[in-house]
Amino acid sequence: MTAADLCVTNARVFTCAGPDDAPPAARLAPIEGGAVAISDGRIRFVGPAADAPAAARVIDAGGRALLPGLVDPHTHLAFAGQRVDEMARRMAGEDYRAIAAAGGGIKATVRAVREASDEALFEGTAARARALRARGVTTAEVKSGYGLTVHDELRLLRTARRLDAEGLLHVTTSLLGAHAVPAERQGDRAGYVEEVATSMIDAAVAEGLADACDVYLDDGAFTRDEAARILGAAKAKGLAVRAHVGQFADLGGAELAAELGALSADHLEEVSDAGLRAMAAAGVRAVLLPGAWRTLRQTPPDAARMRALGVRVAVGTDCNPGTSPSVDLPLMAALAVRDAGLTMEEALLAITAEAARAAGVRDAGRLEVGARGDLALLDHDDPRSLTYALGGPPAPLVVLAGRVVEQQAFAPPLW
Ligand code: NIG
Ligand code: FE
Repeated sequence: MTAADLCVTNARVFTCAGPDDAPPAARLAPIEGGAVAISDGRIRFVGPAADAPAAARVIDAGGRALLPGLVDPHTHLAFAGQRVDEMARRMAGEDYRAIAAAGGGIKATVRAVREASDEALFEGTAARARALRARGVTTAEVKSGYGLTVHDELRLLRTARRLDAEGLLHVTTSLLGAHAVPAERQGDRAGYVEEVATSMIDAAVAEGLADACDVYLDDGAFTRDEAARILGAAKAKGLAVRAHVGQFADLGGAELAAELGALSADHLEEVSDAGLRAMAAAGVRAVLLPGAWRTLRQTPPDAARMRALGVRVAVGTDCNPGTSPSVDLPLMAALAVRDAGLTMEEALLAITAEAARAAGVRDAGRLEVGARGDLALLDHDDPRSLTYALGGPPAPLVVLAGRVVEQQAFAPPLW
């Protein structure tokens, strides 16, 4: 038998695998003294270290917790500029939607993206991707949405694809042309919606740049009918669909996501029981975004209610320059535990196996033979430490498709 490329051994291995409806504790039962071996970028062995194949490179994990590389199911990683002044104004009491209506908010970032060179756009996005990865993330969903012309939306999607092509992260992309109506189209809202539903989707599909289509369906953004038009068109072109739903108002987005068989409905601060039931029946994941609810000082969604109604939950950073300038996915999971009431075990699955489902990525978020060779080693033997800490040190070891991409000297855990 040929040697594996890499084997991480002497770890407490938490696979996050098993049936979706198995209790979280079962999906997180450790393999003590375990090992994971990777060949040609894929997992080849998961089990007791004594049974592991020989490997060209062996890393002794010293009994630390080994998880699949984390999955961030909702990011706006591709943007330029920042909105620090706007944050100061909002923290002093100005309203997010009022600032947006006056040409700030998303539109301010759109101006920065249109002015940025392709290289500057990539460099900023790549810096955020590396920062995300340093805390264990190996797969991210990345949206466009700050270009709002066919030309600029495609530039953002190309930037996202380049992260993957250059080996920084595995990326799945969503076209979010319906993030806002651009300033120059204010008098032509219907025309802009049609353009997104036709030429923008067509161009993204023709270049293979989008895996999915997203719409910001909310008060101050797009209506249910507009979202139905755009997402229906995207689906007809073979794209997966998802939506920002109920961040400010319940416009029936959860029901629409269910009707369309969306991968996820994200935010969900404002959603009815009927909407959640429809999502549960259609297998639409709820993606919770603590960075946004914290920044907007909102009442968080209630995990107990989602659990009772059968909705499966993932957690994302929502990394964006307006409502969630964060690349710390474990911190988001920690906040989801504190604010929304996820159990620590649910929160771990929400940034691994459940996040992969929400992202529409089949072969990530779990340690099983044939899956991507993506690993995140923690500084601790208890994986719940990830959501116990409110932000922590970088992951001591991150492996992407069998390549060691982050490695720190092993040190004692902070707690
Ligand atoms: O997810 N909800 C829509 N979009 C972002 C905010 C975008 C921005 O303010 O730039 C969000 O919160
Ligand atoms: Fe978002």
